[in-house]
Formats: sequence, structure tokens, C-alpha cells
Amino acid sequence: MNAYPNLQVQLGPLRLPNPVLAASGTFGYGLEYADLVNLSLMGGIVVKSLTLAPRAGNPPPRVTETPAGMLNSIGLQNEGVETFLLEILPRLREYGVPIIVSVAGETVEEFCAVAEKLTRAQGIVALELNLSCPNQMRGGMEFGIDAKLTATVVRAVRSRCELPLIAKLSPNVTDIVPIAQAARDAGADILSLINSVLGLAVDAQTRRFKLATRTGGLTGAAIKPIALYHVWRVHQALPDVPLIGIGGIMSWEDAVEFLLVGASAVQIGTANFVEPTTCIDVLQGLERYLVTQEIPSVQSLIGTVQDIA
Ligand SMILES: Cc1cc2nc3c(=O)[nH]c(=O)nc-3n(C[C@H](O)[C@H](O)[C@H](O)COP(=O)(O)O)c2cc1C
Repeated sequence: MNAYPNLQVQLGPLRLPNPVLAASGTFGYGLEYADLVNLSLMGGIVVKSLTLAPRAGNPPPRVTETPAGMLNSIGLQNEGVETFLLEILPRLREYGVPIIVSVAGETVEEFCAVAEKLTRAQGIVALELNLSCPNQMRGGMEFGIDAKLTATVVRAVRSRCELPLIAKLSPNVTDIVPIAQAARDAGADILSLINSVLGLAVDAQTRRFKLATRTGGLTGAAIKPIALYHVWRVHQALPDVPLIGIGGIMSWEDAVEFLLVGASAVQIGTANFVEPTTCIDVLQGLERYLVTQEIPSVQSLIGTVQDIA
């Protein structure tokens, strides 16, 4: 029996102490959770997506519950990159947890400007590009649903940033593989899959949309099979690219499923709203699983799913 399985994971240039991270937009800037969760135990925190200037986000209502999930249209509400660097990062650094900063923008130039400010800061281990942002030049179409646009953003940021670069892909596409390939070829070290799935909710009683923006992003348990599918497909097509699995992870079993289909790490989003300690619970469950299954390391589990006998 192996009493101390190795939880460390290596994703290209990025080494993490364990594979369980909090997903962008669902864990604030980390500080909000510091009284509830021992942040130093986490594999990492992906902070809320940052834009160049602060943003108020979309008008309310911008969240609604759905069967087995939720729909949101927060609209990139954030403090802006300057406030993050001056007021938030110095405090978050104190916790010793790997900090990944999510970068957002409505133009390629905005992505680059935000990344350039972050690349010189102390204590950031990687940048994650939120490619689900609305592209101002293309009438609000997500950057990440087009392979060429994805490559343009990744290449531009890559040329101005030395940190490990993660491209976070959108599931709202017919085939994710060409987009994953474009991101990799343009210089992304790691891919995160997936962001929220486009959805809509209507109230039969009031006969109105439930969100002020009409449509929103579906997250939570409902999207887990979609996320597993995308991770598995990209791992089959691009086995050398390190992947971070995201979507509907509510338990350690869910996390194991993502590792088995090819993710090297996972991010937990909506579950943080249900139970703020989910990341730690998942990590502890994963560790127990490795011990009882006599698996020596997380790394040796990745991509080992098998067909039904
Ligand atoms: C309220 C809310 C806000 C989010 N904000 C962001 C964001 O700012 N940037 C980003 O890349 N993803 C954002 N996401 C998407 C999550 O990071 C994650 O990709 C998605 O929720 C799927 O994971 P889950 O099913 O575990 O929630 C947000 C999700 C929710 C629910």
C-alpha cells in the first residue's frame, strides 16, 4: 500500500503541487474565500478574468438556477488589471498558492495590454486566456469559436508574455480540435476545456426571459458529459498537449473521470457556490482514491481510461 501518493502534476512548463484548482469567475480573487478554505492546500487559483479597465458587467438578473446547473451572464465584471496588481495580488501572494490570472479583452490589443502588465508581476505562475470573450470587432462573437481568431489572440499574447500560457476554449463549436490545434500552434503551452455552454431560460408564469441579457452560459453538473467529451477528443487528437478539465466537477469521482480521459489537472467552478470547500474535499477524495487503488501518482492516472471489457 502506497501511503503517500505523489499529487504533483507537470503541465508543460507549469508544475503544480496538486491537480485541483478553482475556476475563473467562481472563486473571486481567492481572498474572498480565505476565511473558509485553506488556500495554501489548493493546486492553484484562477482568478476572475481581468480586463484593462474595471467593468461593471451586465445588468441583473444575471444568474438563474437550472436543473443540475446554473445559467449566468455576469459579463466580465472585474476590478481591472491595475487594481489587481496594486491591491489584490500582494495580499493573495501571502497564501503561497499558485496564482493563475485569467486575461480577457474585447480586442486583441486589450488581451495583449493586460498580459503585458501581468507578465512583469511577482507571484503569477501562468496566464489563462479567456477566449469566450465577446469580440468587439466581430459584433460580439466569441474569439474562441474561430480557429484563426484564436490563433491571432494566442500568438499576439505569446509574443509579449513570458509566463506559461493557457488557452481556455469554448465548447460552443462544432469541432473543437482545429481550434485546440490553432491555439497550440500559436504558442499556447496548455489548454483549458471548457468554458460555459450557451443556454437560455424562460419563466412560464411571467412569460419573460430569466436573464436580462436573454442568453447566458450554462455551468455545473449538467455540462460534465460535454466537458468530458471535449477533453477526451482533444487528448486523442493532441496527446502531447497538457489539458486542464473543467465543467460540472462536483466530487472527487468527477475529477478522476477527467484525469482518466486525459486531463492533467482540473478546475472547479459552480460547485464552489454550493460548498466553498469543494476543491479541498475533491483533493482529499482523490488522495484517498490513489491510496486505496494503489496508484503511485496522479501523473500515472492521466489518460488511462479503458474500453468496456
Ligand atoms: C458565475 C460565473 C462566472 C464565471 N466567470 C468566468 C470568467 O470571468 N472567466 C472565465 O474564463 N470563466 C468564467 N466562468 C466559467 C468557469 O470558469 C467554468 O469554465 C465553467 O463554470 C464550467 O465549470 P463548472 O461547471 O465547474 O462551473 C464563470 C462561471 C460562472 C458560473
